[in-house]
Amino acid sequence: MTILQHKRIIVGITGGIAAYKAIEFIRLLRKSHAEVRVVLTPAAAEFVTPLTLQAISGNAVSHSLLDPQAELAMGHIELAKWADAIVIVPASADFLARLTVGMANDLLATICLATAAPILLAPAMNQQMFAQSITQQNLTALSNRGYRFVGPNSGEQACGDMGFGRMSEPKEIYASLEDLFAQKQDMKGLSVVITAGPTQEAIDPVRYISNHSSGKMGFAIAQAFSERGANVTLISGPVNLATPANVHRIDVTSAQEMHQQALKSAVENQIFIGCAAVADYRVTQVAEQKIKKSSDEITLTLIKNPDIIADVAHLQSKRPFTVGFAAETQNIEQYAQDKLQRKNLDMICANDVSSGKVFGKDQNSLHLFWRNGNIILELDDKKNIAKQVVKHIFDRFRQSK
Ligand code: PMT
Repeated sequence: MTILQHKRIIVGITGGIAAYKAIEFIRLLRKSHAEVRVVLTPAAAEFVTPLTLQAISGNAVSHSLLDPQAELAMGHIELAKWADAIVIVPASADFLARLTVGMANDLLATICLATAAPILLAPAMNQQMFAQSITQQNLTALSNRGYRFVGPNSGEQACGDMGFGRMSEPKEIYASLEDLFAQKQDMKGLSVVITAGPTQEAIDPVRYISNHSSGKMGFAIAQAFSERGANVTLISGPVNLATPANVHRIDVTSAQEMHQQALKSAVENQIFIGCAAVADYRVTQVAEQKIKKSSDEITLTLIKNPDIIADVAHLQSKRPFTVGFAAETQNIEQYAQDKLQRKNLDMICANDVSSGKVFGKDQNSLHLFWRNGNIILELDDKKNIAKQVVKHIFDRFRQSK
């Protein structure tokens, strides 16, 4: 038995030369005993015929929003409710743009707007069209709204161009659909708060002290928790990142603001993760006016910021399970374990940030410590590291109960 057995799948086909590959994809679905309904856009019907798709899928093919016969058999809202998942094979640039702005000007776009089922998109288009900033913006917007993607791949295109835009192979799309159903939503009911990014400490109205944190690690952790069904609050310093789907984001600037928001959220959540690179010090007296370049030297007096995570971990009531990070350039393990004890944490993720590693980069490796154990997570994309971090936090959290 496969995970797709008896699953109700709408295969949406939009206009593009890759439409012919949808036939093989439908064949794979039928082989695994999924129920398949095919919906064509008018442009797709120029590339593949409804008759072929009817024979392969075993069901009548729908292609018009205004077809009384088809509406009588299964109306578009009924179809949208019937589906366990919708897969768009191929998803053209035009269709992605229409989906982004929420248009309902053909049957397939209407079903996508009317469904609560997850939607998997297999984009296919000319490499230049794919590279256009407007297409990339559409992809980001859809991804932020929870749409899933498979591909596109890089390679030779029907037009003779080389590059990204070639649709994934039917087997890859099939594997992504399996993943979509396999993905565990085992954290429903769990509430998590994560701090991410840097803080900025004002010197005067135009200058500040900060650090190189991009927020990537913290945002990836927020996304990984959210994908498993947790309720996620993300307290973020100033970063240039899109908010992951279904995550509640609170923007702050300074350590004091982050401290205030973190303590408020900590007592309302079960898990607190401090991934932010919080400035340890702020300027004692922020100048009201821009400091003029009048002398060769100036002295700034700094005062210690509150230690956010230590304050959370020392809460007397409603203390959440508390996880810190330790960014170190030497004696990594020793300093991290010292912070685990001193700040009263349940777990700490030790980060070797020497030689320009980690800050702002797409990859990371971590050494996780808790009171009676530890594990090394080898170098990988931050998104993959985040999935592992989330798994270990969840395991320890459950053990602590
Ligand atoms: O954002 P990226 O570019 O993806 O980079 C990721 C990262 C390097 C920022 C991240 O992986 C990381 O290591 N974050 C912690 C950075 C840090 O400030 O480490 P620290 O060793 O100085 O602080 C230890 C812990 O105390 C951290 O959990 C920190 O959030 C917390 N802290 C520190 C100071 C302070 N005033 N309040 C705090 O809560």
